[in-house]
Parts: sequence; structure tokens; C-alpha cells
Amino acid sequence: MDTSECGAEICSLDDLRADIPLTRQYIYLNSCTFGPVPRSIQACMADALRAENEEIIAIRGKEAGVRFYSRAEQARCTLADLLGVSAGDVAWTYNTTTATRLAIMGIGWQPGDKLAVTDVEHVSTNRAAAGLAQSRGVETTVIPSTGPGEAVYAGPDLFLEQLDRLLTPAHRMLVMSHVSNIDGRRLPVTEAARMARARGVRTLVDGAQSLGIFTVDAAAMGADFYSGSVHKWLLGPPGIGFLFVSSNSRKEFNPFDFPVVKDDTGDAERAPMTASALCELGTANYALRIGAGACVETARRIGLGKIEERCRLLTARLRAGLRLVPGIRVASPEEWELSSSVTTIQLDEGTPERCQRFVERLLEEYGIVVKYRPEICGVRIGVAGFNTNEEIEQFLAATVHLIPQI
Ligand SMILES: Cc1ncc(COP(=O)(O)O)c(C=O)c1O
Repeated sequence: MDTSECGAEICSLDDLRADIPLTRQYIYLNSCTFGPVPRSIQACMADALRAENEEIIAIRGKEAGVRFYSRAEQARCTLADLLGVSAGDVAWTYNTTTATRLAIMGIGWQPGDKLAVTDVEHVSTNRAAAGLAQSRGVETTVIPSTGPGEAVYAGPDLFLEQLDRLLTPAHRMLVMSHVSNIDGRRLPVTEAARMARARGVRTLVDGAQSLGIFTVDAAAMGADFYSGSVHKWLLGPPGIGFLFVSSNSRKEFNPFDFPVVKDDTGDAERAPMTASALCELGTANYALRIGAGACVETARRIGLGKIEERCRLLTARLRAGLRLVPGIRVASPEEWELSSSVTTIQLDEGTPERCQRFVERLLEEYGIVVKYRPEICGVRIGVAGFNTNEEIEQFLAATVHLIPQI
């Protein structure tokens, strides 16, 4: 099977839904954690694994072997294309966490250096910051994106003002989620990257919750690094993520201390290395790479614009319905441009136990899958391209019914 044939039968959102058997049993509103991998992508990976083990490993250097590995390499080009960058700018990693860590750890920290993060970073970034503080004496500055007492993200102004006030040339790096996994707020990453660049500060954008929902142009964004995975909104396999490393940043980025190549004069001049050469180690899982390429191709065949439009409309209906349900409040911004496909609700007099009971009863009584978010004691609902209007209506009806009972 050629990569371009993988999932070729999926040309619309209806085809996509039909290729996800889970949707016949559950109302799955948790793609912000794991997207279900469509059957055709599973088949594509299984076939790649079979071909590699039954044919290719015996004839690695021969034409068919070369074709197989170049097909895996093609997946990198497909992903790079989606990000609006070159294949040489993209490295495969295990997941977003590994990609984010690589970017952070690869720039060489000294005691007294500072790291800046936003107030809505994923736990994996906060743990990286805590580790840097402990092992290298790096101080972290948290840039607020909402003001004191402000319940819902109101837009980029406050964050950009605070960034302007708090970010200094002593900061080596600014880490920002493109879309928060807590409440779905969308941060002004392009403007923030511009401000950081003006101070000589590198930027890393965590794209775990953005890629696959709306168009991401990593080059135009102007960040030095962009990390992500395919197992959420792109409905790809878990265990494979990526790191975009801009060509400028690669001059001083060497996370694994690869030997420096000297130029003709003997100066220790770094040769222009690709992101892959700098970040990838040892033997790879080619079936996963092929699966990652196939899920990106599937999204493009359906149309990224169509996926975004479906998510936008369903999210708007969801939020409008939720605002009419007594006993809850929506913690995510109303406007699509300030948010994304993630909507988090909080319960009046909400306790972790009440939220968890709500999540459990939705699953047990209605087959609805959502997730408890401890950071704000909320319940997170993620709307993907394969979800439907009927599912949103059923979720709203279930919510109206359950909230007074829990
Ligand atoms: C914003 C954000 N960053 C990082 C991660 C970690 O992703 P991964 O499991 O791919 O390492 C997540 C996962 O939920 C996330 O939402």
C-alpha cells in the first residue's frame, strides 16, 4: 500500500465518522486527550508493520527497501507542509512532552538564566521548569494571561501587557501553549514571539491542542520551536510527536551534543544540520511515521477548513446551550478566535467529587466521554470534526438532566 492510498476512501467528515467505530457506541468528546484512530489509518500502519517485518528488513538496501523508507520519510514532508515549513525543520519525537523538553534542554542553561512560561501551561512544561530550577538554578517567571478575579480569558491585551512588563533579556526562553489544555484559550503567540525576538528571547510554542483544529503556519508565527503530536486532533497514533526547529535556532541548538563539524579553516563552525539530525536518535518506528503521515493526509483530503468550520459551529452551539443550563458556568472564552475546540465548564459549588461524579454518570448512563480538569476543578469537552450536532444536543440534554442530581 502506498502512503497516498492510506485512508484514500475518507474524503468527507461523514466518511471520517463512518471509519471510527467508536462513534457507534459512544459520544466521544475527549479528542483533546486522545483522538480515536480511524480504521483505515490503523490498517495502513498494520500493513506498514507487516511489510517491514515480512519483506523489507531482508532487502533493506534494495529498491523496495529504499521505497519503504522513503515513504516513511515522505510523512515528514507531509507534516512539514501542514506546518508551512520545510522537512529539514521538522524532527520526530515520541510526543509533545518529549518535543517540548528537547527544545528546552537543548539551549544550554546557566545559573542565573531565566525561563518564562504562561499561567496555563501543561503540567509537563511546569515540571520541566521545576527541574531546571532544581538542577541549574534557573528561575521561572509566570506571565499571567488573566487578571486577578477575572474568571474567563478576555483576550490578548492583558497577556501582551504583562509580557511586555515581565520579559527581559535575562530570559532565555518563553514557553507558551498555542491553545490551553485547561480551558481552550488561544494565546497570541505570533505577537508574543515578536516581542520575545525583540529582546533576544527564544520562543517555544506548545501546539498539542492547536494542530488539526485550525491552520497553523509555524514559519509565519516566528517562533523558534513548535512542539506537538498527532494523537489528539489529527486522530493519529499515540507515541509519535514532532518538533519544528527554525533554521536560525539550529545554529545554537544541540540537545544531544552531536560533534561539531569544523569548517575548512578549522573554526568550530556548526554545519547546517537538519532538525532530524539534531533531535532523532537511533532506530525509528517507521509504521508510526507512516501512520502520522496518513492522518495528516486524511485531514487535508477532508479539508482543514471544513474541519475547523465543523468544530467552530459545534462549539458555538455547545457553549450557547451550556449557558442556559442552571448550576454551571462556562470557563472558556465565547469567541472562536480567542479559543478553540476545547470548552471547560465549572459547577456551582463544584468540588472535585461532584465533577468526577458528573463525568462518571455521563459515561455510565449516556455513553458520553469527557474529562475532569483538576487545574480549575472543571469538566472539559472537546469537539472534533467527526462529532455531530445530534451529539451536542444529546450532551446538553444529559447535562440538564444530571446537574441537579449530582
Ligand atoms: C497543551 C498540551 N501540552 C502538552 C501535552 C502533553 O502531550 P503528550 O501526551 O503528547 O506528551 C498536552 C496533552 O494533553 C497538552 O494538552
